[in-house]
Amino acid sequence: MTAIYDKFAKQYQASKRLPFREYIEWYSYNKLLGDISQKSVLDLACGEGFYTRRIKQKTAETVVGVDISEKMIRLAKQQEENHPLEIDYVVSDVMQLGKIGSFDLIVASYLLNYAQTKEQLLKMCQTISANLKPGGRFVSINNNPDQPPESFPVCEKYGFTKRISGPLKEGEAITYEFFRGGQKFHFDNYYLSTKTHEWAFKRAGLNLIRWHKIEVSPDGLKIFGQEFWQDFIDYEPIVGIECLH
Ligand SMILES: C[S@@+](CC[C@H](N)C(=O)[O-])C[C@H]1O[C@@H](n2cnc3c(N)ncnc32)[C@H](O)[C@@H]1O
Repeated sequence: MTAIYDKFAKQYQASKRLPFREYIEWYSYNKLLGDISQKSVLDLACGEGFYTRRIKQKTAETVVGVDISEKMIRLAKQQEENHPLEIDYVVSDVMQLGKIGSFDLIVASYLLNYAQTKEQLLKMCQTISANLKPGGRFVSINNNPDQPPESFPVCEKYGFTKRISGPLKEGEAITYEFFRGGQKFHFDNYYLSTKTHEWAFKRAGLNLIRWHKIEVSPDGLKIFGQEFWQDFIDYEPIVGIECLH
């Protein structure tokens, strides 16, 4: 698998300034994470470390970030050099990572939606399982497989679009395009049903699977108003996932 994020690492970093990132994505993710003080955490598909740093700042004991893109990891390491948080970063494809430790918590925001087949999804889940302590937790924010394609156009007002060329079918590409400050970039995620995800989790030994609805933070509601967020809430382009090992 090629590291497509090498091509637009900086632009992706800038997309983290879109309001939905703070007021929905991080708010929902952070709520799912809960209290992680003294926990050892592995962040898979950590990108340039945007959430990896926040997780370390939430007083996690140790944090390791892994990403397939050298450029994303370079950006993460630069920030680690400028403001050391004692985070370790590793370049690797999650599917090839193997066991690098035994963690209390594994997080992955927008990793699973890169699996193009159920076999690839299973490999990702097996890496998660191999690196989790017994009783450990997996938490993720991901593309929502259940968002109906007819509702994809609602994403535009939040700074991105989602497109698919036909009906939802296993392995079908969903093209995300971000536009901000005149800088456009796009990439493909892949559709795999919730049923396929549940199959892969269970097969890899991840149980008590829960799909969590995203929420808007009180600040987001105060600044932009309920009406602005209503389509995001109604059509849920992204979703939270939690499993136990
Ligand atoms: C949408 S970005 C998310 C980055 C970060 N988790 C965040 O939420 O800001 C997706 C990341 O997944 C990485 N990625 C995609 N497939 C991967 C794989 N098989 N192994 C490791 N990283 C992968 C990409 O390089 C990219 O940095």
